[in-house]
Parts: sequence; structure tokens; C-alpha cells
Amino acid sequence: MWTALCLITVTLVAASHQRIPVYVPINANANTAAGELSQAAYVDYVNWWQNIIGIISNTEEPAAEAPVTPIDQSTCPPCTCGALGTKNRIVGGNPTYVRQYPWMAMLTYKGKFYCGASLINHKYVMTAAHCVHGFEGKKIGVRLLEHDRSSNDESKHIDFKVSRVIKHKGYSPTSYNNDIALLRLDTEGVEFGPNTGIHPVCLPVEGKSFSGYEGVITGWGAKKQGGSSSQILHEVYVPIMSNDDCRKTEYDQKRITNNMICAGYPEGQKDSCQGDSGGPMHIANNTAYHIVGVVSWGEGCAQANRPGVYSRVNRYLNWVANNTADSCPCTNVYSPSTDAAVGTAAY
Ligand code: ARG
Repeated sequence: MWTALCLITVTLVAASHQRIPVYVPINANANTAAGELSQAAYVDYVNWWQNIIGIISNTEEPAAEAPVTPIDQSTCPPCTCGALGTKNRIVGGNPTYVRQYPWMAMLTYKGKFYCGASLINHKYVMTAAHCVHGFEGKKIGVRLLEHDRSSNDESKHIDFKVSRVIKHKGYSPTSYNNDIALLRLDTEGVEFGPNTGIHPVCLPVEGKSFSGYEGVITGWGAKKQGGSSSQILHEVYVPIMSNDDCRKTEYDQKRITNNMICAGYPEGQKDSCQGDSGGPMHIANNTAYHIVGVVSWGEGCAQANRPGVYSRVNRYLNWVANNTADSCPCTNVYSPSTDAAVGTAAY
């Protein structure tokens, strides 16, 4: 009896640890009520355990980790961030244009796609801690300029190895608090500009909640809950909500920490999904794109009152600066009037 209970517990805790979607597939022919009951029971059980272990916390941003060897950033060339590469499923989304999001990175593990990431400067991509937790750095690959994963002709991608994995020290695999990480690319510096078409995304300003803004999420994740990942990079627009409102959804309010930012419609329908993790949620501010969130978790995908939850990037600006001090920050925010050339990448 106890062995059986322990086994169930270990399996369930392991499942919640991996954040396997917290739902039990409901067989269309089976009794739906029973299916829903088991789903609710499962969620309750996981929540109960999470509360027992006391993993839900609202800790502030922890002290920065040991900084990297800094370079003299005053010698850095000017760098413009946030410019889309072309004029202008994720669930309920649209396919993007080739090189539309020129900072969008695809992460591979042992050569296979598994997460998204965003280029923030010449050497670093930002992703989710759960995309690196338990993974061996030397088997992680970072690909820039990918568009259609099933085609090699539409866009010439560039592959990088990873020379350093920086997982946030406060990351909790059970609560998903501080679900943020940086990967240093094994390169002297990625070349930006019209030769390559690569541009980094802008970091957000500190302190803003972004509630009421429209968020844009990009990724190769599933186009429906339980579906397979997408071949073509998709984008989806969702409203960003305040953390107070997010705590009024179906999520237990203790689960939404100040390090998270939620986005979605009350009725669901549009959302990020499995495989989008680590990728960006942006806001487009005067046409320059800023990364305000990193795809982190959600119960199912695009469900009513279960918004997508993202790591709140502007809680980590010091952490990012400290851990990327060996690279040149990209601080000039793209503006179409003054930086006309930046937006027209060569193909
Ligand atoms: N954890 C998922 C991943 O690894 C992302 C889930 C996002 N879910 C959502 N409903 N927005 O890809």
C-alpha cells in the first residue's frame, strides 16, 4: 500500500517538476465528467504537494551570481536593438515572415529542437531556466535565423555551441519562480546588420508592469494543446494582465510570484504552448521590440482563465548586466526615423 502511494507521489511530483501539462487527456468517447474530475483531482494533488514543500515564494531578485570577467564596455561599437527584419501557432497565432524576428533563436538538444531563446547582445541569448535545468550545456545548440524547421532553403541559419550556461540561482523547478537563464554563444561575437540580417531584441525598462499592453509571443511550439511542435515560426498577440488579475484566475494566487507576468484572454483561445518555452514575449514600443517575458508555464494551453505565465524580464536587469559584463550591451533602441537602414536587412 505504502509502496504504491510512494510510487504515485514520486510520479506526480516528478510530473509537476517537469511541468508536464497539468491535465489528463479527456477521451472524447469516455465519460467527460469523470475525465474532468481526475483533472481537478490531479491539479489539487500537485498544488497540495507544492504547498506542503513550501516552494511557493515571492522572493525578491536574489543577489547577482559571480560576475563574468568584464570588458571595457566604453569601447563597444554602437548597437541598435528591437528592429524587425521585414516590414511588417503557438495556439491561435499566425506564421511569421522569414527573418521577421531577427533575434529569435531556436534551441536544440542533441540536435533536436526543444525550446526558444532570444538574442540580447553579441554573445548571449536569454531563455527559460527550465530549458537548461538538467540539460548538459555541451549538447545544447543555438540556431539563429531559422524559420521553417523542415526546409533548408528558405533562410540560411547559423548554428552556435554554448560556452556557458547561466541558470538563475533562484530558479525553482517546482514553482517555476525565476525561470530565466542565459547562454553564452561560443563565438567572438555575432555579426549584426544587413550582412547577416541578425539584430538583438531590446531589454525592457525597469519597474513597469506592462499590464494593458499587447504582448507578442514567437515560437515553434505546439499549435494546439497536446499537439506537435510547429515547423514554421509563429507569432501570437495576447493582452498582458496585471499580476493582481492573474491571481484571480484559476491559478492558485500563491503560484503567481512578482517575478512572473501573465498574458491571455479571459476566454483563452490564444496562447503560447509546449515548445514555446524560453522564447520571447515582446511589446512593440514605438515599433522597437522589447522582451518583457520569457515563456515559462501554463496549465494546458489557451484555456479559459488559465493564461500563459512568463518570467518577468524587467526583474532581472541587474542580473543580466552582471552576467553579461563580458559582452557589449545593445542599448540603442530602434526608431524608424533615425535608424532607417537597420530595419531593411539584406536576405
Ligand atoms: N513549459 C512549456 C514549454 O516547455 C511552455 C508552456 C506555456 N504554456 C502556456 N499555456 N502558455 O514549452
